[in-house]
Amino acid sequence: MLIRKPEIPSSEITPEATYLNRRQFFGAAAGALAASALPTSLAACTMDEAEAAQRDEPNSYEDITSYNNFYEFGTDKSDPARLASRTLRTRPWTVEIGGLCDRPGRYAFDDLVRPHQKVDRTYRLRCVEAWSMVIPWRGIPLRDVLARARPRPGARFVEFTTLLDPAQMPGQRRSVLDWPYVEGLRMDEAMHPLTLLATGLYGRDLPAQNGAPLRLVVPWKYGFKSIKSIVRIRFTERMPATSWARSAPTEYGFYANVNPAVDHPRWTQARERRIGEWRKRATLPFNGYPEVASLYRGMDLRRNF
Ligand code: MTE
Repeated sequence: MLIRKPEIPSSEITPEATYLNRRQFFGAAAGALAASALPTSLAACTMDEAEAAQRDEPNSYEDITSYNNFYEFGTDKSDPARLASRTLRTRPWTVEIGGLCDRPGRYAFDDLVRPHQKVDRTYRLRCVEAWSMVIPWRGIPLRDVLARARPRPGARFVEFTTLLDPAQMPGQRRSVLDWPYVEGLRMDEAMHPLTLLATGLYGRDLPAQNGAPLRLVVPWKYGFKSIKSIVRIRFTERMPATSWARSAPTEYGFYANVNPAVDHPRWTQARERRIGEWRKRATLPFNGYPEVASLYRGMDLRRNF
């Protein structure tokens, strides 16, 4: 495999020790999993696979920032890198948190992020289009931000919305999707310790094309759940109507858990191409994060795709 080195100063690259910490984190999570009973269709993912996910080499900084999906800037993979930084103004940036919570508010980006401990986590990103990357994110656990807003007991879901401004996001002049881009998580998914609000990658601020200044990262779900350039977070009682599920409900579900046993109607999800590699590899249940399986115990994951 050809891995290109990132062209950024070594002082800005996350130290290796940080990635090793992640291994300890997953070691603990793997123990918890062993103690839980898996639905039979998921039992195929062994501890060896979970361990393998941790050893993945990150993709190069160049790969991660030049091959993107960000339809607000065009549908070609090279459009976001070419166009997003030209028009997207990421400061000042305001995020509104509201809905079913006791402490709603409008936060300037720095006020939202600063009180929380930043973490570095290298995660696989598996796109629904059957390609994948390994990305060293920097961010804050989403649950820390959500807890601050004091969600009410009736809050069962969290809805996220991207900026709507065709002047800054020229792709919104075309009706590829019903803008703005909306995504959602069930409350327990949003509060899971793996779920991040990413503000950077490779130890640097997020580039515009990767969803600056902050985007969601949910590593066990198809990449379309990881919504970029978020301006609104809302606690809801009902399952949010998400962009892709509204646009093609037979192809994209709300849950969107990576699942090699459930094909997309137009292609297989059993295999994937890691960007930078030629030979396809097997896709792992939950993208190689089996510790989340207990969130879906008793659910039919074919129906809730
Ligand atoms: N968020 C917004 N607002 N608009 C998008 O088009 N594309 C999604 C997701 N988040 C998208 C988005 C898809 S399909 C994927 S695979 C990932 O972003 C890609 O993230 P990356 O470009 O950082 O690899």
